[in-house]
Amino acid sequence: MTPMAYATREDITARVRATFDACPSQRLKEVMTTLVDHLHGFARETGLTRQEWLLGVDFLFRAGQISDAARNEFMVLSDALGLTALVELMEDADEERTPTNNLGPFYVEEVPTLPFNADLRGDRPGTPMLLRGRVLGADGEPIPGASINLWQTQHDGRYDVQVPGLDEYRYRGWLRTDPQGVYQVRTIKPVGYTAPMDGPVGQMLRATARSPWRPAHVHFLIRAAGHRPLITEVYPQDTPHLEDDVAFGPRAALVVAPVEVRDRDEGARVGLSVPFVKLEFDFKLSPAEPGSER
Ligand SMILES: [Fe+2]
Repeated sequence: MTPMAYATREDITARVRATFDACPSQRLKEVMTTLVDHLHGFARETGLTRQEWLLGVDFLFRAGQISDAARNEFMVLSDALGLTALVELMEDADEERTPTNNLGPFYVEEVPTLPFNADLRGDRPGTPMLLRGRVLGADGEPIPGASINLWQTQHDGRYDVQVPGLDEYRYRGWLRTDPQGVYQVRTIKPVGYTAPMDGPVGQMLRATARSPWRPAHVHFLIRAAGHRPLITEVYPQDTPHLEDDVAFGPRAALVVAPVEVRDRDEGARVGLSVPFVKLEFDFKLSPAEPGSER
């Protein structure tokens, strides 16, 4: 064997790239070789030491350990590094539809289906809020029977899945739009929260003196036959941290002004005592691309 057969500091990046030469998928090959380029470039540019590399490997190891069905620390990491927001912004290029937005780490697919105007509040604290609007197609026509998975924080800024020992779902569920394409639910005003601070991402935020806060928002995942699914968030205009969100989520088209309702007749029509807050938001979907899942 000649020395040429072994990796050197100069040629290791090209060597790793070459290991993907036989990859049958051109796209997978492109993603993997570019990932190698950037990972190696990162290590070279920073002069990454063995100790720092080990810290990074341990960081990812602990992110895996603290993750479970209700908590995805890698999603928190992706959000905090702006990767989620960047991918969503790229997905939205030249789109007419409502902007997509971060899925976040607290989505649950298997939740109950709620009736129209369901009341999610129970006897718990929080500012009463009517959340309603329409789901529309690309040409503005309402879409009846669209499925909406909605989830938000309770009054203390935690999601139900973050409350230890809680054995029921709160402030989340599947909604259906009515024949006019309208969805409506009685809930509470969502509350802003910090990224989870008890795991490696929280440790990183503290060590780098970053703000951990997210503005208040409601998450939506919308599916309708013949349309691309939409994952997004809607932000009340009066919430703090719209412009310094740890996850870089807000877009102008997703921020909406809440309206305070004091009219008793309007309250009676929707089953809420005044005053309450009304947040109205219409979603615009785009047609499904043939053969595409998204
Ligand atoms: Fe969230």
